[in-house]
Amino acid sequence: MADDDIFSVRPEIAASAHADAARYEEMYNASVADPEAFWAEHGKRLDWIKPYTKVKNTSYDYHNVSIKWFEDGTLNVCANCVDRHLKDRAHQTAIIWESDDPGVSQHITYQELYEQVSKFGNVLHSLGVKKGDRVILYLPMIPAAAYAMLACARIGAIHSIVFAGFSPDALADRINDCGAKLVVTADEAPRGGRATPLKANVDKALARCGSDVRCLVVRRTGGAVPMTEGRDVWYHDEVERVSDHCAPVEMSAEDPLFILYTSGSTGKPKGVLHTSGGYLLYASMTHQYVFDYQEGDIYWCTADVGWVTGHSYIVYGPLANGATTLMFEGVPTYPDAGRFWEVCAKHKVNIFYTAPTAIRALMGQGEEFVAKHDLSSLRILGSVGEPINPEAWRWYHRVVGRENCPIVDTWWQTETGGILITPLPGAIALKPGSATRPFFGVQPCVLNDRGEEITETACEGVLAIKDSWPGQMRTVYGDHDRFVSTYFEMFKGYYFSGDGCRRDKDGYYWITGRVDDVINVSGHRMGTAEVESALVAHPKVSEAAVVGFPHDIKGQGIYCYVTLMSGEEPSDELRTELRNWVRKEIGPIASPDVIQWAPGLPKTRSGKIMRRILRKIAENDFGALGDTSTLADPSVVDNLIENRAVK
Ligand code: WTA
Repeated sequence: MADDDIFSVRPEIAASAHADAARYEEMYNASVADPEAFWAEHGKRLDWIKPYTKVKNTSYDYHNVSIKWFEDGTLNVCANCVDRHLKDRAHQTAIIWESDDPGVSQHITYQELYEQVSKFGNVLHSLGVKKGDRVILYLPMIPAAAYAMLACARIGAIHSIVFAGFSPDALADRINDCGAKLVVTADEAPRGGRATPLKANVDKALARCGSDVRCLVVRRTGGAVPMTEGRDVWYHDEVERVSDHCAPVEMSAEDPLFILYTSGSTGKPKGVLHTSGGYLLYASMTHQYVFDYQEGDIYWCTADVGWVTGHSYIVYGPLANGATTLMFEGVPTYPDAGRFWEVCAKHKVNIFYTAPTAIRALMGQGEEFVAKHDLSSLRILGSVGEPINPEAWRWYHRVVGRENCPIVDTWWQTETGGILITPLPGAIALKPGSATRPFFGVQPCVLNDRGEEITETACEGVLAIKDSWPGQMRTVYGDHDRFVSTYFEMFKGYYFSGDGCRRDKDGYYWITGRVDDVINVSGHRMGTAEVESALVAHPKVSEAAVVGFPHDIKGQGIYCYVTLMSGEEPSDELRTELRNWVRKEIGPIASPDVIQWAPGLPKTRSGKIMRRILRKIAENDFGALGDTSTLADPSVVDNLIENRAVK
């Protein structure tokens, strides 16, 4: 039984860890018994300009949801990640950049980071960006992405990163939603030996935006790009004109730091808003404890800064801790399936944090790609983004970690700002597939369908969190009602995560996946509603329903049921056309895996699509369709089963 499959804490890790088992219990208990006192103490890990006197002011009351931490304190996030380290570690490497090209890497010291970020801040100023303005970053994984983030934080601008794999349309939606003044991009983004035309994408996006939005272009490949006079400028030109001194702006702890768009059950992606003090404190503290970060460690998180993992655990958390953080521009399989391990060996990485989808893909390539490289520097391994199946966990543990490295399976979300449920390497015994126990200050609970908290230790239901923690999102940008209705309405008095979970007899949490219409494809979070609306925007499509189905490598794949306009004939060409259409509308990450032609969709008499049935058909699980008698036309289901697309 998986619940009894335990890997105990390694004594050599516990001996030097920031928290061993006893310390974890002591700190956890203190954090929930008196959150005010606990966070008042740990808030001191940041440098404050004006120290806070108020710590926690949070309400989950449905009528008045409001989350504030350290509200009367002031600080600058960039100064905390850069300036304060100059005294002791100016010459230490802050960022190791590993390019897509395996022959190219770069070390950037804290002193250099300070200079680069200051100049970047001045370039932003010179383009008229002021405190509170929104700046979209649409960049490859290059040091300039980190400079731009930190420069925004330095001058008080709010950055919103759009993953470079998103389409021009998706980019335009985000520029317009947050009312950005400036888009920072690069000529092209090389990945896996191929270049994405970022600037050309921005040109297409800006055609759909107000004429006052400007564009700052960083040169990456040197590829030729057209520049629009009066709107577009090159970073390398602008930077010649600015000084290298840029004073960090004093910000309130509750001033916004960034907006990051993420998918939900319904509608367009929402702008998750994170603020300054609580976010940075939580990112830095979790980075230290969860990865047992020790002075001098080389730390590598393989995420992209376009996702929250890149924000909290490539840039803000590690840099706040004065760590050396590795930024990787490429993909795990280029030039071959040994690239991750080659980079680990080359830079003597101690802490390695990646996603299960990458592990599963590499597992299939054979152990020789790992064995070729010297991985003896690795001490801690991490996993994030989706449930890690025990088979992948074991491979990661045995082949990559040589059975010496604890794996921290970290559960969290864009909304949570940082890791909420996770093992601490020196404190908590591991069970493959379980995110184990809550971080300090986090009170998870399991609710039944009626919204009641289940008190038995061993149980299953939906995962909710009882009280606030400093890294929690504050609102949906420009739509507080949506924030309240998404997270606090269904289960009153709790933060509702959207995930299902099981708690075992030892109090360990096992995340079972989303209970809403969000799917997780290769660790990328996507709303089925977004793919549906992309499909129905095609002139030949009348209706579409999209569900996830289990996929060996991606975790979940995208399964689309499509009803065509009358008179349109299904064909393989049309299938390809629709697939390309979705890629164009959203981006390649949303590319449908399966398109099944559906003459009709299973609907209730009131017209609601019964997705439960569609999910079962996509899963090939016809025996468990449940009650279909409430359908307006039950024969629709027989047709779908009969014509189920072959995968
Ligand atoms: C899923 C990524 C199981 C979960 C940081 C969550 C996980 C969604 C894990 C958030 C994990 C993330 N085990 N599931 N360790 N980590 N998830 O916003 O469904 O991109 O709700 O944040 O990913 O995805 P997001």
